[in-house]
Amino acid sequence: MSVGSGLFVTFEGGEGAGKSTQIRLLAAALRERGFDVLTTREPGGSPGAEAVRHVLLSGAAEEHGTRMEAVLFAAARSDHVEAVIRPALQRGAVVLCDRFMDSSRVYQGVTGNLEPPFIEALQRVAVNGVYPDCTIIFDLSPAVGLERVRRRSVGATDKPAGVTDFDRYEKEELDTQEKRRQAFLDIAAQEPERCCVVHADSTEADIAAEVLRLVSDRLGARSATSAMSESQ
Ligand code: TYD
Repeated sequence: MSVGSGLFVTFEGGEGAGKSTQIRLLAAALRERGFDVLTTREPGGSPGAEAVRHVLLSGAAEEHGTRMEAVLFAAARSDHVEAVIRPALQRGAVVLCDRFMDSSRVYQGVTGNLEPPFIEALQRVAVNGVYPDCTIIFDLSPAVGLERVRRRSVGATDKPAGVTDFDRYEKEELDTQEKRRQAFLDIAAQEPERCCVVHADSTEADIAAEVLRLVSDRLGARSATSAMSESQ
């Protein structure tokens, strides 16, 4: 459902998929074309939600269970929506958000084993009518994603690039990432109007061009719709 005249685009996917680089490139391309662009991220994005981000990512909430974590993600989302996302959409901005409600469905719902009605009830309250117009899902083999994350943390590996042998902990992590990958693909299959899957193992430039094309199509459809309603 659209809010105001803006466009709400969310970016989802596993670890190491390159979301943040692509959001930066897309924001720059859209600003060059004269759009008012707001980039934001979850958990966080507003002062209240950033305080909760700290609790969630430090692991402080973990010992209290997945249910508690899911409620905290939803509390952060509610603050972020009302303080930042809704006002930006109302003024006509293009909002680019790194992770949103689908991350809760996948991380807390599927791999956190929380029942779908609980997650959906939390989402309804948290998003309060502000649903993404478009969700870009970066799809990547978990082994490639983990290798990228490993290489990013300098000093964490002395293996040459491209060598992929994983320890027991990492193998468990790969299984979990594979479940998440499938869960994001399932969401895309269930909601094809909203979701687009982008293969995140192409070159940075090719992915950026595809993402810009997808979002430009939505912006084109948006201006055609508003032109039609203005002429009526
Ligand atoms: P972050 O450091 O922002 O990394 P990235 O988005 O690049 O993976 O970490 C956010 C983490 O929070 C990530 O592991 C996914 C998780 N998360 C959830 O479990 N549920 C949610 O609803 C959201 C928004 C994020």
